This record gives sequence, structure tokens and C-alpha cells, in this order.
Amino acid sequence: MKYGAAVLSTLIAAAVAQQDYAIQGPPLSTRWTSEVGTNPWPSHPRPQMFRSEWQTLNGLWQFSPTDDSGLDSPPTGQNLERQILVPSCIESGLSGIQEDHEYSWWKTSFQAPSDWPQGKTLLNFGAVDYEATVFINGQNAGSHKGGYSRFTLDITNQLQDINEILVHVHDPTDLEGVNIPLGKQRRYRRSHIFYQPCTGIWQTAWMERVPTDYIADVLFDAQADGSITATITGSEGASGDVSVSIREKGSSNQVAEISGAINTAIAGNVDNVQVWAPGAPVLYDVVVTFKEDSVQSYAGFRTVAKTEINGIQRPTVNGKWYFPFSTLDQGYWPDGIYTPPTKEAMQFDVDYLKEIGFNTIRKHIKVEPDEYYAYTDQQGIMVFQDMPSMPHDTTANDEQTKEFNRQSLEIVKTHAFFPSIVTWVIYNEGWGQQEGPIEKGITNNIRDNDGTRIIDSVSGWNDNGFGDYKDVHSYSESQCGMVNNDTRIQIQGEFGGVGLNLSADQLWPDPAAIATIPETYEIATDVGAYNNRSIEVIDVLTSQVRNNKCSGGVYTQTTDTEGEVNGLISYSRDVSKANIDSWKSALQRLYDAAREKGGF
Ligand SMILES: *[C@@H]1O[C@H](CO)[C@@H](O)[C@H](O)[C@H]1NC(C)=O
Ligand SMILES: *[C@@H]1O[C@H](CO)[C@@H](O)[C@H](O)[C@H]1NC(C)=O
Ligand SMILES: *[C@@H]1O[C@H](CO)[C@@H](O)[C@H](O)[C@H]1NC(C)=O
Repeated sequence: MKYGAAVLSTLIAAAVAQQDYAIQGPPLSTRWTSEVGTNPWPSHPRPQMFRSEWQTLNGLWQFSPTDDSGLDSPPTGQNLERQILVPSCIESGLSGIQEDHEYSWWKTSFQAPSDWPQGKTLLNFGAVDYEATVFINGQNAGSHKGGYSRFTLDITNQLQDINEILVHVHDPTDLEGVNIPLGKQRRYRRSHIFYQPCTGIWQTAWMERVPTDYIADVLFDAQADGSITATITGSEGASGDVSVSIREKGSSNQVAEISGAINTAIAGNVDNVQVWAPGAPVLYDVVVTFKEDSVQSYAGFRTVAKTEINGIQRPTVNGKWYFPFSTLDQGYWPDGIYTPPTKEAMQFDVDYLKEIGFNTIRKHIKVEPDEYYAYTDQQGIMVFQDMPSMPHDTTANDEQTKEFNRQSLEIVKTHAFFPSIVTWVIYNEGWGQQEGPIEKGITNNIRDNDGTRIIDSVSGWNDNGFGDYKDVHSYSESQCGMVNNDTRIQIQGEFGGVGLNLSADQLWPDPAAIATIPETYEIATDVGAYNNRSIEVIDVLTSQVRNNKCSGGVYTQTTDTEGEVNGLISYSRDVSKANIDSWKSALQRLYDAAREKGGF
């Protein structure tokens, strides 16, 4: 890997910007804040499709707010007045900006390494919230709408020796009259359960060199019986055969090779396959070759289904009911907001939950970087992936609904690769929910695009009978599996939420957020009472597993977040309120109850 060009552009930016980068605040730091530096997220950001000819564009860029006419006159060849750290949300302390701007320009320059082979140059963004328009050397190279999925632009035709990248960002968030997928972000209508917004390039920006005809995407449907269907998407106009070589992890020992035409589904089989399972996640290395192009990838063989066990519908992996037990996981950070400060910080959250015994994470109306899902794949943690919701307090019109459906399908398609994702959750409670034919339509559309997972059409509130789950929310006392005549899987999609207020140095230091703390469902007086009470509510769920048709649960929530003090751990991740040993025992009782009912 060569960072020479990125360092060069950093030096240029540093020399001309009028206002040098410095971390703002942040209002509350984490133990990782000081480790971020100016070369953040240096790792390859797309583990499902690796080529060695890549280079990060992360680091210090130039930045300038603009207005609603800014896009008409890109500041090509000009210096912007401030510096920003990419990737970051402009509202975050780590960005160096820590302000709200609906419209902004982001700029860097780069030189492709001289030893790269001839071919095409692709510019990749992990995620830009909300709408990005990209100019290369003054020419419009393309745009993307939606804050949660990666996109790639072929910039070969715009390329020169030294190149200027200008990205125009527009993010209206919850502006009056706007209705876009935004999850928990609120700029204008923040409250106890809605937090800081995120604007801009919040995941890795990078480029790579590919041959003229190249592999644009890889997708495997790998099942527990060893069958595998590979769909390899080629670059525009590419045709010919691809070869997919499946190998034991970390070895060149090939266990199967399948080949066939690009852009078609090609099938093969691995004899005596070792499955991917929660807690026992076997992965295979995969090498995909197409003409001059070759990418390294991986696959996990598993079958996700709704299965009747002892007369009750259960969510199963490889035919076994693991009792998915999860936290509600917001993925927010006090220093980076949507962007975890470092990869280690991101992995810490998964490790912490795994240590306590959670086997599942409900990723709540946010989508993480691809490296997150590669990590849950490696760690054998199941993921319930929510679609980022529309605002909770407005009704979308037809066009806005169409755009929500389009972006949801894009998230499904760009994340269907990861075997640890076992369930798509379309709506959270009634937020943006379009009951009736539209809800049925999006459920069917997602199923048609991805038949390898099960679907929770709505988590909590208005259940219209769609999808594979009947999912209820009730906080102080769970109500799991109480319905006798439903033919779907019954889960407690949210419960718990027991709070504990920590000392001022552990709180998000916004007086408005602190003033909302009493809105927490219940607040324990001290850490002993917190553990007693939270374990008591888990034990009630355990009794419902034993007595009802309860098949899974989601405890609220992983971390404190702004005014919400119901995390197992503080927002900084420094103070674990949860007594690990007591929680481990409580979770063991829960899994034991499921085992008595035919669970694994
Ligand atoms: C289940 O029973 C309830 C209450 O009697 C009824 O309202 C509902 O329509 C029934 N649902 C199904 C799927 O039969
Ligand atoms: C929580 O703690 C903070 C800091 O000590 C305090 O200012 C606030 O009043 C407390 N809120 C509640 C509801 O206990
Ligand atoms: C926790 O519960 C136990 C058992 O009921 C009780 O003896 C203990 O006093 C409780 N501790 C606190 C801090 O509430």
C-alpha cells in the first residue's frame, strides 16, 4: 500500500487552508479519540472484494459551507477555507468542524501511483450522507443519493496527472417538508430518543485500479448443504466467463471451483462443507477471476429459515433455533457520531456484547461500514439489520415512499453478501410505515431480491401480518410470544431500557439532552439496583420463553446515547454498568429455557 499521494495532498491542503485542522471538543471523548490522528481508517474498506491496487483518500481535505446555489458553480482550482478530517460527519468533534451545514464542498487532490498497471480508475465512497455530487478536475463524474450505501464512480475519463476531487454534499436531514431515510438523526427536531445528525463523507473514500473489463460486484448464496450459487456482476458491457475458486481459509487448498458466464447465477457445491453458525463461524476464502481481473473474497455456508420446532415457528440457522438475543444497537459515538473513531473502537462494541453472551445485534436504523459486517461474520454474531427509517412525525408522499423503497433495496443489495445478517427489518414501529399494499409490496420486493434471509416487516406497533415475524415492543415488562393464532415467529423486538444516570463527566454535555434524562422508562438509583432490575426484566422474558411462543429478544440498549442513559455501557464505553458475571448467568438461564423448548 502506498500512501505517498495521500500524504502529498495532505501537505498541499495544510499549506493553503486558512484554518488548520483541530479536533473540536469533542463534547465527550472516548479512549480512541486521541488515536485517530490524520490518517484515520487506513484499512481496506471492502473486505468482500479486495484488490491490491488501492489507495485510501482518507485524511485532511479542504472544506467550505455553501448554499443552495453552490452546485451551479463548483470552486474548481480554488482553495477552500477550512480543513476537515475524512471520513467524518461535519457535526462531529473529530471532523474539526462541529457545525451544521445543509450544503458543503469537500476537496482533495491525488496522484495515482506510477507503478499501477494500465486500466480504469474507480473512485469509491463507503457512505456519504445524504446526497453527493462528485467533480473530477472540474468535470461532473456522477452523483449518489442515500446516506447508507457504498457507491463507485469510474473516473478514468476525467483523470489527469494530478487530480482534484470536489464533492458537493447536500443533507437536508429533517428540514420541514423533507422526508428522507435518516434513522435517529435530527437537526431541527432533536429530542430524548433522536440525536445529532451526520452530514458528509462519513465512511472511507478510496480509489482502486482495475482492468478495462472488471468485476463490479460479487454475491454468494451459500447454503448449509454445501450448495453455492455465485452471481458475479461485470463492468458495463463486459462478457465472458468467470471462475470462482473456493478454498479452506488461509490455505491454497481448493475445495471447489465453479465457472460460467459473468452476470449469470452459476452453481456449484462443496462436499462435506463446514457451516457458518452463530458461535462457530467457519468461513472459506474465495478468489474470483474474470479475464485480467481477480478479487479476494470469502463465503460462509448457512441456511436461514422460519422453521417449526415442536409445533412453534422459530427463526433458525442451519435448522437450529439459537434464540437470537440481542441489544438494540444504535452505533453512535460521542466523538464521531456515525463514524466509529477507529476500527478497534467499532470492534470493541461487538466484543463487549459477545463477552456478555449476546449472540445477535439489532443494528438499529443505521448501517455500519462493510468492515463491521465482515467482523460479525468472523465472530459468529447474528445481525438483524434495520432499514434507516423516515421521520416518525411526518407522512411520506408517493415520491418519498418510492425513494425509501429504492434506498432500502439498495441497502439490501449492497449488504446481502454478509452471512451474519440473518434478518432484514423494514420499519421500526410506525416510523415512515406505509400500511397496506405498500408495506406488502416492499416486503415482497425484498424477499424477491434476497431469498436467503427472513424479514421483519415492522418491529413494534402496527402489525399487518406481513413478513416472517410478529414483533412486539414493551419496555418494563416484555409481552413475548403471547399470541396463539399467529403463524409467524414471535419475538420481543425491544424491551428493558433500564437506566442509570452516571456522573456528569460520562454524560453528553448538552443541557437539552441532560434535561430529557427523566424521560428514560425507568432509572435505577445505583449500579446494584440497575443490575437487579435489568436482570429481573430478562428473567421475565425467560419465563415467557418457557411458557409462551417467544423466539427471540432485543434488550435496549448497548450504550448510553446523548440523553438516553439506558446503555449497558456508558456513551464513552468507559463504564460498564452491566455486571458481566450476573448478566452472563441471566443470559445462560434464557438460552437454557430455549433449549428446553427445542432450541440449540
Ligand atoms: C387471532 O385472534 C385474534 C383475537 O381473537 C383476532 O383478532 C385475529 O384476527 C386472529 N388472527 C389470525 C391470524 O387468525
Ligand atoms: C443525571 O446526572 C446529571 C449529572 O450529575 C445531573 O445533572 C442530572 O440532573 C441527573 N438527572 C437525573 C434525572 O437524575
Ligand atoms: C439485589 O437483589 C438482591 C436479591 O433480591 C438483594 O438481596 C439486594 O439487596 C439487591 N441489591 C440492590 C442494590 O438492590
